[in-house]
Amino acid sequence: MTTTSATAPTARTAHPRRFLMCAPEHFTVSYEINPWMDAAAPVDAARALAQWHLLRTTFERLGHEVEVVPSAPGLPDMVYAANGALVTPQGSVGVRFAHPERAGEAEAYARWLEEHGLGPVHRPVHVNEGEGDLLVVGEHLLAGHGFRTDLAAHREVEEVLGRPVTSLRLVDPRFYHLDTALTVLDDDPRHPDVAYFPGAFDEASQRTLRELFPHALRTDAATAEVLGMNAVSDGKHVVLSPRAQRYAEQLTERGYVPVPVDLSELLRGGGGAKCCTLVLRD
Ligand code: ARG
Repeated sequence: MTTTSATAPTARTAHPRRFLMCAPEHFTVSYEINPWMDAAAPVDAARALAQWHLLRTTFERLGHEVEVVPSAPGLPDMVYAANGALVTPQGSVGVRFAHPERAGEAEAYARWLEEHGLGPVHRPVHVNEGEGDLLVVGEHLLAGHGFRTDLAAHREVEEVLGRPVTSLRLVDPRFYHLDTALTVLDDDPRHPDVAYFPGAFDEASQRTLRELFPHALRTDAATAEVLGMNAVSDGKHVVLSPRAQRYAEQLTERGYVPVPVDLSELLRGGGGAKCCTLVLRD
């Protein structure tokens, strides 16, 4: 069979990664800072922990290395490690949270990184929520704004890392972080690939994404609404919500291997697989 698509299922290559995670030992929903959170609905702590363990062992089974930062009492959202920093070979950028409830996490992550050879960590002036809003795709550094990360932080990150940042404006409060609207499927600079839900972005940002990634997979609202976009790819395997069935089919058509992991209890905080995972690039 021949095909004219530039993204014809090529042989996808898995890149072994080093991830930082934080066990949900203190996870609960005691405040509401995104539309997914309902402080009145009880969280099953044991279930959250079991689901997180399955995510961790799934990564390890796929050949990735997982580091764990100790969780801290009083910081129930610390499980969402993606918000802890942005770690690149050009340097590590720490975070400054939009909401005071999460402020204490910033130093915990920055210190862990510095103690593990990933410093110095830049302490930001402007609000930025790490890999929740800052995503590396090959040569591109995509940055979300509109709900959490400040537009001014995009310039700050650009200066600290010495690489250009492409700003994307998020417009739907359910998709408040860039990683709830866009999956980095392949960050190899030779063939970068993303999937995204266009409805999460304003018109100009949709245009930017079409120009940067003309062959990208554009997903439907049903996929985004189960936080399907919040997935972790190693270039071949895509760890995603089992509820995102259509997305899994679309990924399979493109040569990726979907790996469903149920994180329903962590979804109550407004996060999925990607939120729980910070990539350590050194
Ligand atoms: N409850 C957390 C918050 O609202 C969830 C963070 C999800 N993280 C992410 N990378 N999208 O900040």
